[in-house]
Formats: sequence, C-alpha cells, structure tokens
Amino acid sequence: MRCHGATVTRLTLIPPSLKLWGTKLTNGPDEALAKGNEGSGDTMNDNGWDDSAAAWIADMGELGDFGRRYVLDPVMVPLALAGRPKAMLDVGCGEGRFCRMLASQGVAVTGIDPTRALIDEAQARHPGGTYIEADAVKLPFDGGAFDLVVSCLSLVDIADAAAAIAEMARVLEPGGRLLIANSNGFNTAGDGEGLGWARDANGAKAHFRIDHYLRERKQWLAWRGIRIVNHHRPLSTYMKLLLAQGLRLTHFDEPRPVADAPAARATDYVRAPWFLVMVWAKG
Ligand SMILES: C[S@@+](CC[C@H](N)C(=O)[O-])C[C@H]1O[C@@H](n2cnc3c(N)ncnc32)[C@H](O)[C@@H]1O
Repeated sequence: MRCHGATVTRLTLIPPSLKLWGTKLTNGPDEALAKGNEGSGDTMNDNGWDDSAAAWIADMGELGDFGRRYVLDPVMVPLALAGRPKAMLDVGCGEGRFCRMLASQGVAVTGIDPTRALIDEAQARHPGGTYIEADAVKLPFDGGAFDLVVSCLSLVDIADAAAAIAEMARVLEPGGRLLIANSNGFNTAGDGEGLGWARDANGAKAHFRIDHYLRERKQWLAWRGIRIVNHHRPLSTYMKLLLAQGLRLTHFDEPRPVADAPAARATDYVRAPWFLVMVWAKG
C-alpha cells in the first residue's frame, strides 16, 4: 500500500434542531426509525456521526446489527475474499468490524473514516490494521494502491457520491475490484414515519410505502441514540457514476436474510428491498 499521509477532515458540530423529531422508534435502522428531512434546520456540515459515534460502537458490538449479521456479512465476506485480495481499503470503515473480519482471513486492511472516534476505536481494537481519519472525497493514497476497495453501507452516508466513487476507482489497481453494499434506493425512498412502513389499525406493518423515488435528498435518521444523515439517491445515480469511471459490473444482488435469521425481523427484508450488493472491476 502506498500512502501519502492522512487528510484530516473535521466536521463542525452545532447541536441540530430537534423540531421535526416528534416520533421516536427504537427497533434499529433495519426495522424502524424516525425520519426527518432536509428542512430540519441542521447545519450543512453536521452529518451527526461525531455525536453518534459512541452509540454506534455500542450498537454494532462485534457481531454487527441484524442487517449486517444476517444479510450482508454472509455475502460480503465471501465476495471480498473471492479475488484473494492482498491489500483492502475500506472506505467509511466505521469502528472497523468489516476490516477485522477480513484481517482474520489474512488480508492486509486499511480503513478510512472521517469520524475520529470511530477511527480511534477501530485502531484500538485492531492494532495490526491501518486506520486513518480521512474523507472519501480525498483519499490519502496513490492511484492503484489497493486491489480491493470496499464501501459497506457508506455511500448512502457520503454527501458527494460522485467524488467518492471517482476516488474509489482511482485508488484501485488495474484488475482490482470495488465491492459495494449500499442501502437500496427503494428503501431510502421510504415515505412516512418509521421509514416507509404504513401500519394497519392494529399497528401491524401493512405495506412499505415509497415516494419521490427520483428526487435525491438528504434526510436525518434516528435510532437507539444514533442520529445521522443519509442521502437518498435512485439506483440510476450510482450506476451512472460507476459507469462513468469505466468500471465493469461483475456482480449484482439484493441479498435476503440467511435461513437461520430470526423470522420476525427477516420478513421485513423480504417484503421491502433493504440492501444491494455490487462488484465492479477496473479494466
Ligand atoms: C453506516 S456507517 C458504516 C460503517 C461500516 N462500513 C459498517 O458497515 O459498519 C457509515 C460510515 O460512513 C462514514 N462517513 C460519513 N461520511 C463519510 C465520508 N465523507 N467519507 C467517508 N466516510 C464517511 C461515517 O463516519 C460512518 O462510519
């Protein structure tokens, strides 16, 4: 891995307005969450991650949340290992769980994340890994430094997806692979309180509602002490950006929960598309 020093990006922290946050649903991001919109009065640079880091670390634990443990990890880990990577970069690595899983399989891992507390946690839990405070839009690495770049549920959090995708492509070596797990655009277009679930008279989930699918927008999500910004974008936005980098799609999936996933939660993931997974090849 060639690295030319970390770019330090700090976010301005101004307590966000809570005026649109009347409803609090607390069963997790993959089941139900409170949702606000871009009109909530928050400052431009605050994406909530600095204030949410401690709650995020507690929520992930070592096994991850439901979506990671039962839906994403079972497909993401084998896909990452499939090309026998030597040097992996995890963009938006959070507290480093995915890096640790790959490191345990012998992969040399580097994680970047702009949230200082998450990078510190990742480094503390995995002293043998390389964790750098940096922003996806300006990766502190030479071109072609990695044979595997991973973005696991981070593109949806990144304000400038075009710049981030260009950077991911740049730091990939020719023949390298970009592995992406992202929130499905149908999911992030969920309309109404509690993500997109419309409820019947008994409070049961009647159906999943989406609206304004083609309108890109920033929205605040909150669950279990975490309150952060997501960016809804239709699938076509990501596909065009990835194609514009000359990358070639080699794998696409909308993974479903594994067979032993607790049924009560797993049902939601079959009723509404939650995640998508893609592998793109360079050259
Ligand atoms: C939903 S978490 C995912 C963390 C980890 N990849 C995982 O799957 O557990 C999104 C992460 O994206 C990071 N993030 C937000 N904006 C970013 C940016 N501009 N560049 C890189 N990472 C960013 C956040 O700090 C957070 O750690």
